[in-house]
Amino acid sequence: MQFVEAHGARIPQIGLGTMTLKGDVCVQAVKNALQMGYRHIDTAWFYGNEKEVGEGIRQSGVKREDIFLCTKVRETHLEPDKFRQSLSESLANLQLPSVDLLLIHWNNKDIPFTTSVGALCQAKNDGKTKYVGVANFTSKMLDEAWAVTTEPLVCNQIEVHPFINQDKVLATSKKHGMAVVAYVPIARGKVPGAELLEKIGKAHGKSAAQVSLRYLIQRDCVPIPRTATPAHLKENMDVFDFKLSDAEMADLKKLNATNMRVVNPPHAPVWDTP
Ligand SMILES: NC(=O)c1ccc[n+]([C@@H]2O[C@H](COP(=O)([O-])OP(=O)(O)OC[C@H]3O[C@@H](n4cnc5c(N)ncnc54)[C@H](OP(=O)(O)O)[C@@H]3O)[C@@H](O)[C@H]2O)c1
Repeated sequence: MQFVEAHGARIPQIGLGTMTLKGDVCVQAVKNALQMGYRHIDTAWFYGNEKEVGEGIRQSGVKREDIFLCTKVRETHLEPDKFRQSLSESLANLQLPSVDLLLIHWNNKDIPFTTSVGALCQAKNDGKTKYVGVANFTSKMLDEAWAVTTEPLVCNQIEVHPFINQDKVLATSKKHGMAVVAYVPIARGKVPGAELLEKIGKAHGKSAAQVSLRYLIQRDCVPIPRTATPAHLKENMDVFDFKLSDAEMADLKKLNATNMRVVNPPHAPVWDTP
């Protein structure tokens, strides 16, 4: 496993995404992943599966201190009382005293950063999380959040895959020394079958999904692919033994021009334009 370091956090460079994984499927996916060597699990209060994630961790037999666990607080719960309530529900669900990384899941434009980021930092000061960060923040939001935060924001979790241009927000995250955690790293199923990714994969004896993950790793991102299929779990970990050439990276980068955003909920902020 490789790691990305940011403001003292050492983040395993492949994580398991768990959105939509429910019930025993989720328990088994988390357990299998950890037993296979995954050390980074991504959940959220909103996913409604923190109980199962906690159960998977316990069933895996992997030591808690060896796991990097992230959860998130929704944009409806960013004021101090609600923030505390959401986080205590998360920890009760997980049956853990703390997580490794706590994120603001989405910004709420009606709540000032002094309040939301203040509540986030308070959670760290209360010992409920080792590190704090954000998700779905634009460059402008990052600059504003950094202007008021009392704790380093170690990551920005955003959509990154070959079909989207995120150059601006990647550069702003880097400027602040933040890791970029790449969600929907295989574009929710649109990567397998994509001609260029398949072709590059063939040359390396790898799948299109592995090429996408490798592309993100070589762009210093931390992909968190989601799957409950044991063969895919294994495949998605098996991306540290090959390297894409500069020419292959440049060809994949050209696909950014598609600028296809997979996640675009109604409350989305005005995104960075390339
Ligand atoms: N912060 C946010 O707002 C936010 C938003 C979206 C997502 N996320 C996080 O990011 C994670 C990943 O995003 P996502 O789950 O939406 O999309 P994703 O990981 O890009 O795609 C998941 C889909 O890809 C398939 N897949 C996985 N590995 C594969 C492989 N090796 N070969 C072929 N197909 C494969 C899965 O099917 P199988 O099950 O058949 O393998 C599943 O249908 C989420 O689970 C969540 O933790 C965060």
